[in-house]
Amino acid sequence: MSKQLILALSKGRILDETLPLLADAGIVPGEDLGKSRKLLFDTNLPDVKLVVIRATDVPTYVQLGAADLGVAGKDVLLEHGAEGLYEPLDLEIARCKLMTAGIDGSQPARARRRVATKFVNVARRYYAEQGIQAEVIKLYGALELAPLMNLADEIVDIVDTGNTLRANGMSPRELIAPISTRLVVNQASMTMKHVRIKPLLARLEAAVQQRHAADVSA
Ligand code: ATP
Ligand code: PRP
Repeated sequence: MSKQLILALSKGRILDETLPLLADAGIVPGEDLGKSRKLLFDTNLPDVKLVVIRATDVPTYVQLGAADLGVAGKDVLLEHGAEGLYEPLDLEIARCKLMTAGIDGSQPARARRRVATKFVNVARRYYAEQGIQAEVIKLYGALELAPLMNLADEIVDIVDTGNTLRANGMSPRELIAPISTRLVVNQASMTMKHVRIKPLLARLEAAVQQRHAADVSA
């Protein structure tokens, strides 16, 4: 097993919030991630490298040990499943909610509800737990369009400000789960590379706590 630690970062929205947190924890990429077409980066810490990949691929990299640690949204983790992963730290960034939503003023009337979502596993589990029969339709984006085009009665999606729903004549209905970004660790790495992982975890935990302290005193 390599002595280096590979930390997989989610591209996109989460990356913008992850980099300042890593900096607070004293972990700084060797070059500007935004400006490079590279995917694998050195950091100021000789034993830590970063890979920058699609958010939905992070749990797979960490579960299969291609990365030792990862930064991923709880939504992505709920959809992927937790097998082979430890989730030791809530990084408390990219907060949002996973919710059901529908057209303003409409009631979910059908006996068998049609639900459009990227999160098919989460949706199937949620509706089964509620005792609601649901036909879950996988879409890859623009979920808010599905009810408007009569493709679905309801969607399961991320809601933050609610602006995207409002702009499309829709409202949030039920909360499925509050979401934030988590640090995940490969279970075998946690055992085999504990000596390296423990101080990294401590740095990140301290950075999260420092932000708490700053919030409280503000
Ligand atoms: P992919 O490129 O893999 O399809 P994506 O386009 O869904 O991913 P982003 O939109 O960058 O990726 O979102 C990544 C993560 O950020 C989500 O998994 C979620 O945890 C969080 N997130 C998404 N939307 C919001 C939002 N509006 N506010 C706060 N956090 C959000
Ligand atoms: C996310 C999510 C919602 C929106 C919710 O989309 O899929 O559409 O944010 O945020 P709001 O409640 O503040 O409007 P994003 O902007 O990341 O675009 P995407 O559809 O490309 O993922």
